[in-house]
Amino acid sequence: MAYRIAVLPGDGIGPDVMAEALKVLGAVQAAFPGLALQCQEYKAGARCYRETGTDLPPETMAACRTADAVLFGSAGLPDVRFEDGTEIAPQLTLRTTLDLYAGVRPIKRYSGVPPALAGDPPIDYVILRENTEGLYASRGGGIQVGNQVATDGMVITRAGTERIVRYAFRLAQKRRGAPGDGARRVTCVDKANVLKSMAFFRRVFDDVAREFHDVAADHVYVDAMTVRMVQRPQRLDVVVAENMFGDILSDLGAATVGGMGLAPSADVGDAHGLFQPSHGTAPDIAGKGIANPIAQILSAAMMLDWLGERHGDDRARAAGRAIEAAVAKALADPTCHTADLGGRASTVAVGDAIAATVRETGRE
Ligand code: IPM
Ligand code: MG
Repeated sequence: MAYRIAVLPGDGIGPDVMAEALKVLGAVQAAFPGLALQCQEYKAGARCYRETGTDLPPETMAACRTADAVLFGSAGLPDVRFEDGTEIAPQLTLRTTLDLYAGVRPIKRYSGVPPALAGDPPIDYVILRENTEGLYASRGGGIQVGNQVATDGMVITRAGTERIVRYAFRLAQKRRGAPGDGARRVTCVDKANVLKSMAFFRRVFDDVAREFHDVAADHVYVDAMTVRMVQRPQRLDVVVAENMFGDILSDLGAATVGGMGLAPSADVGDAHGLFQPSHGTAPDIAGKGIANPIAQILSAAMMLDWLGERHGDDRARAAGRAIEAAVAKALADPTCHTADLGGRASTVAVGDAIAATVRETGRE
């Protein structure tokens, strides 16, 4: 049985980095006989909107609904906007329509990458971003009064918070704890000292935390969290936050381990999964062959891991691990570094190196 993957390369560097992820997925199928992926490309994004008047054609939406997983590149272009001034972001529409409530964003320091923080602490944690409500719930809504006033509201529900917090604690149970002290810990990030909605988020977090005796519960205000992530990231294990805070913190986290080019993500719910880099479309370097494909390749590895978990398929899980190991090997070698890491490797060269390592895994 082949897994059906809906592939949405999108805009800007999306197609550049997607080509390398597909190359690596080709290699992993050669290395793991029996693992079969049927990858089919679909249109989505700003270019698609400009050409067709919609950023998510019905054919694409239908494919995303029926596929076993969605592999997404990146979407949005600064000069293509909706009438309200916001950008084209089909990934946001997919998060809500497919109920992909858990934004899983690993922040991991790989050796060989130039250190960003003083003292070069070990960093290996996961930001869990609530993906379906929070401040983003107002997208397309909000209130606009002429040219004078605009508001967006924060939406926190008990059900929405409970499920993301449970996801966070279950993830912590499967991990080995924070690299700094080995403690299994979920850190709730909020602004409970100021906003009612955030005090509620914390209260629901505390209610759920009581169900898990083997994982410590911790609270940090979002402003203090930016300091913690820079000064003591080794004490972080799993972090859970409202949608917009999770968006902002995941960029900061990526910067502490080498930048957006190394930041993968999984947007998952109970029925669907979408995998995409946390980065944007970087239109300034699109098509130049210099974008870092690693975030996209690691997102493909997360997809295999998720498919493996979901279908009890050890081979898919092993394939995901093989890709991650190949990425770690590439990052340990400065000749495989793209410009964002201070190197001179091309997008294609990095994809080739990772695919070659994955193919060797199969011969061992
Ligand atoms: C992300 C991105 C998106 C978001 C943008 C491109 C709409 O920043 O996935 O983090 O805001 O969620
Ligand atoms: Mg973001």
